[in-house]
Amino acid sequence: MHSQPRIPEPLNLIGGAWVPARNGKTLDVVSPSTGKAFAAIAAGGADDIADAVAAARHAFEEGEWGQMTAVQRGRIMLKMSELITRDAEELAQVESLDTGKPISQARADMVAAARYFEYYGAAADKVHGEHIPFMAGYDVKVVREPHGVTGHIIPWNYPAQMVGRTLAPALAMGNATVMKPAEEACLTVLMIGKLAQEAGMPAGAFNIVTGEGHVAGAALSEHPGIDFISFTGSPEVGVIIQTNAARNFIGCTLELGGKSPQIVFEDADLDRVLPVLTGAIVQNGGQTCSAGSRALIQRSIWDKVIARLAERFENLTAAPSEQDRELGALISRKQRDRVQSFISESNAPLIARGKVASDAPDEGFYVAPALFGPCDPQSSLAQLEVFGPVLAAIPFEDEKEAVRIANDTEFGLVAGVWTLDGNRQQRVAKALRCGQVFINGYGAGGGIELPFGGRRKSGHGREKGFAALHEFSTIKTIVHNHG
Ligand code: NAI
Ligand code: MG
Repeated sequence: MHSQPRIPEPLNLIGGAWVPARNGKTLDVVSPSTGKAFAAIAAGGADDIADAVAAARHAFEEGEWGQMTAVQRGRIMLKMSELITRDAEELAQVESLDTGKPISQARADMVAAARYFEYYGAAADKVHGEHIPFMAGYDVKVVREPHGVTGHIIPWNYPAQMVGRTLAPALAMGNATVMKPAEEACLTVLMIGKLAQEAGMPAGAFNIVTGEGHVAGAALSEHPGIDFISFTGSPEVGVIIQTNAARNFIGCTLELGGKSPQIVFEDADLDRVLPVLTGAIVQNGGQTCSAGSRALIQRSIWDKVIARLAERFENLTAAPSEQDRELGALISRKQRDRVQSFISESNAPLIARGKVASDAPDEGFYVAPALFGPCDPQSSLAQLEVFGPVLAAIPFEDEKEAVRIANDTEFGLVAGVWTLDGNRQQRVAKALRCGQVFINGYGAGGGIELPFGGRRKSGHGREKGFAALHEFSTIKTIVHNHG
């Protein structure tokens, strides 16, 4: 147990060295729980990004990293997994300080972060190519190669987990990486950078430049020296990333959040449904791309479900992270104001409201959870991503209407289907337009083995599982005419 976790210095990791931003500037790091600054990060700019891209290029083409075998890369990543596990308590303390999330949720994040490096470390030497039967006298093989230098722009909701999710598969395939974490929360990213060095990661394979999105993030996504970019964040910035990728003729993955439904049919086992319905929107204060933010409830059980859901919502408390309640403060004043305006502008009836702990500091960014319904499926609460602890309950008559409402937003990330009817489970899972469907369950986050990603406004490309190894690599067909 670290009573006093070590807070990283305001430095970037470039080519194996920890260096201040070239402009010498820093940005304050604010604790969401108190609203007060407690640390600083480097305010990286375009020149720091250029240094990092050059360091990655060197590592990939001439450095130790580019010469390593898949087995060697995998071992370094397995070592990183061990070190993240060794330091999990300190990392969790810093993560909860930095993001405001309850300490036990931060601890779970570190288990997941370590697991990503374990999964992809173990997978590094198991990605095989193919052999194609072709004409007589020919031998054709299809090999998988890394893109080269990959850029990674990640958000503030799960900093440590996001390093695992996007960096581990890229490293497993042999890319050299440049990461621009979110300015709101990125201390554990820097800590994992240190652990990578301890694990023997060669200089330049993993570079980190902190700083503002429109400065450092924009510079990374525009840089002609990157070969691929992975982005997780808002649809608005996703458009910028994809436009810049197009200008550089490179590929990208975009993970842009959602308005994910959980569909509850009248035959569902409500004792199993209710905790998951509540948990999927309260986890991380609702600031989760795959948050279950719409509850579609069959009208025949509406009253019963709503009564039980309301009771649960009334017992939820937003509190400082060390109190370890159901949720903490939201990430920033901006995010709190955004969520509060959704709550105050909603046309749907407020069914139930949780509490903010009476001893929570007034300057912290707390929002009491809110349950609204019946919501018009076309209303902003039912259509837009709130990214806060706000659940929109929507009634439906039958299966057909449930599927129509579920598919009727611009997003398509995750869905939950609650029914004991096996045929209905199959029909509905097939009809839903999204990247993951859970039947009689729901997973927001985690699930490292499960390919994950969206359609339309939720983005495209897949991370997690083996799909990510394909995303972070490209294939080359080698045709050998041996006569
Ligand atoms: P954002 O999209 O602005 O931030 C995500 C990342 O992109 C951060 O690292 C940021 O520095 C970077 N960024 C910002 N502007 C950029 C630019 N012009 N070029 C390159 N990189 C840039 O998201 P923000 O403002 O923090 O949150 C706004 C909303 O976005 C949230 O309310 C939520 O709805 C959604 N969001 C979704 C996330 C997800 O997990 N899918 C994560 C974070 C936000
Ligand atoms: Mg933004």
